[in-house]
Amino acid sequence: MGDDADVDIDVHDCTRCPVLCDNRSRIVNGVGPVDADLCFVGEAPGEREDEQGEPFVGRSGEVLDDALRDRGLSRRDVRIVNCVRCRPPDNRDPTTAELENCRGYLATELDAVDPTVVVALGKVPAEHLLGRSVAVTKEAGTLHDARVAGAARRVLVCVHPAATLYDPSQRETLGTALDEAVALVGDDDGGDGQSRLGEF
Ligand code: URA
Repeated sequence: MGDDADVDIDVHDCTRCPVLCDNRSRIVNGVGPVDADLCFVGEAPGEREDEQGEPFVGRSGEVLDDALRDRGLSRRDVRIVNCVRCRPPDNRDPTTAELENCRGYLATELDAVDPTVVVALGKVPAEHLLGRSVAVTKEAGTLHDARVAGAARRVLVCVHPAATLYDPSQRETLGTALDEAVALVGDDDGGDGQSRLGEF
């Protein structure tokens, strides 16, 4: 975890995006341990997330939970957050302005969690974090050094879990990327000679 362990990384009120404010039931903050080694970054809350106030609790969340379980993990072992914390109307993609309005909250969260690996779930988070266009299916499982609000981050590109619902062949792509993420965390000994994988 970053140095500032006491920082409040939840957003309690925000009025930066008028359309999202009108549409949301609540702000959906990140969940999971604040000292997680793996941080999954999704796009924006959908209907279920907006109802329940937790990222990835709908069908995409089931896919993510299953993929984590297949690797001996659960959502209690990882941090999960979205680029944008309020549900866009009709599940449209967040606009560039909405992504930028929320960027500081994501940066604060990543600074506090300071994960070994940030897993970008899908095109929107991958492009937001890497600052360039990303062909997610082609680049899934690739690791990149990025700067997020000035801080160095290791970003692993991954397909969005929802992609596997439309195209079952993407399950393997998702699984391979997650295997890579788990291996990267396992390889990182935190400088103390101890693998941190055992903490999962
Ligand atoms: N898709 C996302 O990108 N985030 C969620 O929280 C749910 C679905």
